[in-house]
Amino acid sequence: MQSASVFYASPGKLAKYRRFAHRVMAKMSFFDCRVLIVKYNYSVMKVMFLNILMIFLVVAAFSSSTVVHTGENTELPDSQTGETVELPDPQMSGGMPLMDALSQRQSMRSFDTAELSSQQLSDLLWAAFGVSRPASGLRTAPSARNWQDIDIYVVMSKGWYIYNHEDHSLVRKGDEDLRSHTGSQDFVDKAPVNLVFVSDHTRMGGDVDQETRSFYASNHAGYISQNVYLYCASEGLATVVRGLIDRDKITEALELEDYQQVIFAQTVGYPGE
Ligand SMILES: Cc1cc2nc3c(=O)[nH]c(=O)nc-3n(C[C@H](O)[C@H](O)[C@H](O)COP(=O)(O)O)c2cc1C
Repeated sequence: MQSASVFYASPGKLAKYRRFAHRVMAKMSFFDCRVLIVKYNYSVMKVMFLNILMIFLVVAAFSSSTVVHTGENTELPDSQTGETVELPDPQMSGGMPLMDALSQRQSMRSFDTAELSSQQLSDLLWAAFGVSRPASGLRTAPSARNWQDIDIYVVMSKGWYIYNHEDHSLVRKGDEDLRSHTGSQDFVDKAPVNLVFVSDHTRMGGDVDQETRSFYASNHAGYISQNVYLYCASEGLATVVRGLIDRDKITEALELEDYQQVIFAQTVGYPGE
């Protein structure tokens, strides 16, 4: 009884229990005393069990809240060049109220190296230019004559990919870490994700000249970029769109064709210090 109470009772309570036990035991039979001890031990065990359960729940809650920041659940499935990498279904509701996201939208140029989770990557790409109306194939950003000429290249440490909006997946294009090729600012190879917006001019009408195609392409990328900005504001992520880029270098690195035009890049990640 004494050893069990060490775990259970405060000094004041312990003294109280002792006085109570002495008084009762003086009046009780040996059998009554055993029953009392068993009951007491049972309540001690119950409290110990609840304490352990509470510690377990606190540890579980703490570790699940750190998962995203340490990037522990960020792994995309391993893949070979040319293979499709499935993304989790995008979360198409919730997030920050629109007016709050607009208030908080901003360009940030300091990034943490922590990876985004695969869910965040999925939501980011869907927000950027995913299919919002599956029946018609229309998307989260407008495009002139519904050309949908912009492809999003996703450049990360473990390789580079192209976003396939039709089945909301990534197609792996290469294994190299090309982040430093996407710009000259010092954060581009630290941040986990660099998006490159590339216009495919073959999707635009043949009646439109080169200059007009470039004009529309820049507009289209702008809408997508703002979607990324708003998603990042809502998700507490940092982002900056970048026009100061070496387009020839990116064209070569991403093995683009003559009919593809690099419009600009956009870095995404957790805010840095
Ligand atoms: C088309 C375009 C190109 C940009 N290029 C760069 C860039 O190369 N590097 C950069 O740090 N910021 C770039 N920015 C971000 C602007 O500097 C930023 O939007 C501006 O300072 C206003 O800040 P805010 O976005 O926080 O409102 C660009 C913005 C736009 C719209």
